[in-house]
Amino acid sequence: MTDKQIHELLASMSLEEKLGEMTQMAPNFFGTEDSVDLTGPMKAMNLRPEDVSCLGSTLNAFGAEKLIQMQKEHMARQPHHIPLMFMADVIHGLKTVYPIPLAMACSFDTGLMEEAAAMAARESAVTGVHLTFSPMADLVRDPRWGRVMESPGEDPLLGARMTQATVKGYQGEEMSAPDRIASCFKHFGGYGGSEAGRDYNTVDISDGTLREFYLTAYKAAVDAGAAMAMTSFNTIDRIPATGNKKMFRKILREEWGFDGVAITDFGAVHEMIAHGYAADGTEAAKYALEAGADIEMMSTHYLNEGRKLVQQGKIDISLIDEAVLRILQLKNKLGLFENPFKGADPEKEKQVHLCKEHLEIARRAAARSIVLLKNEGGLLPLDKSQKIGLAGPFANSADVLGGWAFAESAEQATLYSGLKQHGVQITAMAMAEPLRPMQQGFMDVSDQTAELERLADCDIVIAGVGEHPDDTGESASKTVLRLSHNQEKMLERLHDMGKKVIAVIFSGRPMEIRPVLPFCDAVVQAWFLGIEAGNGIADVLCGDVNPSGRLAMSIPQTVGQVPVYYNHMNTGRPLIGEPHRYVSCYLDCPNEPLFPFGYGLSYSDYRYTDLCIDKTVGAEDGTLLNVSVDVENTSDIAGRETVQLYIHDVAASVVRPVKELKDFVQIDLQPHQRRTVCFQVTRAMLSFWNNEARVFEPGDFEIMVGHSSDELLCERVTIS
Ligand code: NOJ
Repeated sequence: MTDKQIHELLASMSLEEKLGEMTQMAPNFFGTEDSVDLTGPMKAMNLRPEDVSCLGSTLNAFGAEKLIQMQKEHMARQPHHIPLMFMADVIHGLKTVYPIPLAMACSFDTGLMEEAAAMAARESAVTGVHLTFSPMADLVRDPRWGRVMESPGEDPLLGARMTQATVKGYQGEEMSAPDRIASCFKHFGGYGGSEAGRDYNTVDISDGTLREFYLTAYKAAVDAGAAMAMTSFNTIDRIPATGNKKMFRKILREEWGFDGVAITDFGAVHEMIAHGYAADGTEAAKYALEAGADIEMMSTHYLNEGRKLVQQGKIDISLIDEAVLRILQLKNKLGLFENPFKGADPEKEKQVHLCKEHLEIARRAAARSIVLLKNEGGLLPLDKSQKIGLAGPFANSADVLGGWAFAESAEQATLYSGLKQHGVQITAMAMAEPLRPMQQGFMDVSDQTAELERLADCDIVIAGVGEHPDDTGESASKTVLRLSHNQEKMLERLHDMGKKVIAVIFSGRPMEIRPVLPFCDAVVQAWFLGIEAGNGIADVLCGDVNPSGRLAMSIPQTVGQVPVYYNHMNTGRPLIGEPHRYVSCYLDCPNEPLFPFGYGLSYSDYRYTDLCIDKTVGAEDGTLLNVSVDVENTSDIAGRETVQLYIHDVAASVVRPVKELKDFVQIDLQPHQRRTVCFQVTRAMLSFWNNEARVFEPGDFEIMVGHSSDELLCERVTIS
């Protein structure tokens, strides 16, 4: 359709039709004409059958045949035959599930991220989905929050790059292409700052912290052309995000120029009443409309209150018109007016879902997302000639996909099957009963440590430990991040039995593993790696893939340190040297996390030398410094190194973080190969938000390059 035709369509729509377009309901609200008015939930929402014919979109319906049928029926009923938009939570793949987003961020591999998202787009498009509620760009610092699994971690730059790659992967050049889908970034904004890591809780962050840390990845999504933004459940500066004019009108639309659609999170308009912000549904609808939320997801205040608000002059019709215009424009960008079924194709669906090419991507992504935390005495890669046993609740569990996974079966995903595929002979297995989710009231299985005797003959025991996947994700906040009691006991016992212990940790968040670290010779952070988890892990354990993942989120020593993150500010009493009274430290714990952001071992060793900084002030592209460093693989095995550049602004008009990641590159190094890696430090990299504007202040800067946020070469320069 031309833009003119879109405007004509808008002008010909009734107010009810417009409000319907602005309302999203779950698929069970649709159906045949006879049955719709009978459904209970509809009554509760005061939704009439004629409203259903005007609804503009639905969520989480899958299957090409079903969606084609649904679209046909809906368009026949819709007064102007406007097609529905099918949206869904395709968070880390549809059928070919790839690692959870936090794990993908640990790969530091934006190309791989884009490839994985493009694969998710292909699988979604053939099933009839037009838009995914992904990426989640929420910066996170608190592993108590279950949703850290959906996030790209604690760093704004890594978060921004991963977010950008994800949006590009979904949308490609043209989101109307049959194999592409639109992307909705979420949750705007600052949802990751939920107080005490409790889901849906209050967020209260200063403007400076918001702009410099929390907003960066959302902005990257906007810059990458994401079609949609989703509100978050939290209040921010005491106003619910869904009714927050500063966030949506000022920052998102005015400052960043976002002209896409804004959708609320599930029931979030209604929740403004419970927040104590809106007195009733009428006020809730008014506030959300004023803030510029174009689509109300899963509550019906727009439909029920919109007409009254317009008639009473409390809302200008132009607010509704601009919202509907944006929605129609998105449908048009997706090409739905020409082809309302878009890529939906039952035949292709069979060919594309779980095809060989996709499984290969998922496997590569799984191996690249793994972070090797400890490898004493070079226990890994595995010596297959040793007697190897398996233990723990994840030894043979297929429940390793992570939340938001729609795959039916994941038999091949288990640790056991992966190792078997790689020709590892498993001598014995013990304590392999899978965990139960905490929501069922269970924290652990019964004590089975006696079973460990079965492993008496083994030299090495690989222990699959962690948390149940249902104990991560939405509404899965925890205050205790330790492994369950039985798992801790198991690791200790195996160590006491004289076994070499390799712990493979399956989790959606950094866990508190300090108590078991002494019992483990090697520790592999495997997260939830998706449908190829078993193969990906075995690729790393057996040495087919040299681990290259780095932590996208610090692992705390204890939950008492949380939030603990690398890019913090300094205090006026920093801890230097040994802890002592009246400096900023704990009596019972170091300040540093157990493993910091950017950390991750490899089977290779790398040496950094010759950090050189060349001042090239005045270069046209805004480059202020050329930085180079030599990186050498000093081992006999080829590896992939992620070279990280951090800066520290020594003194500024607002206090700056002790270090901030400003760039990173991945290089492949053959045994004993040495390469010079160059970075450009630009003015933009050194500028910051001074509580009023972004500014650059000349002065002293520390330039740091190295392997991890805690392992860096450092040079100080003065920029005038
Ligand atoms: C609520 C979640 O917060 C959001 O991330 C998700 O996209 C919606 N539900 C829709 O399922």
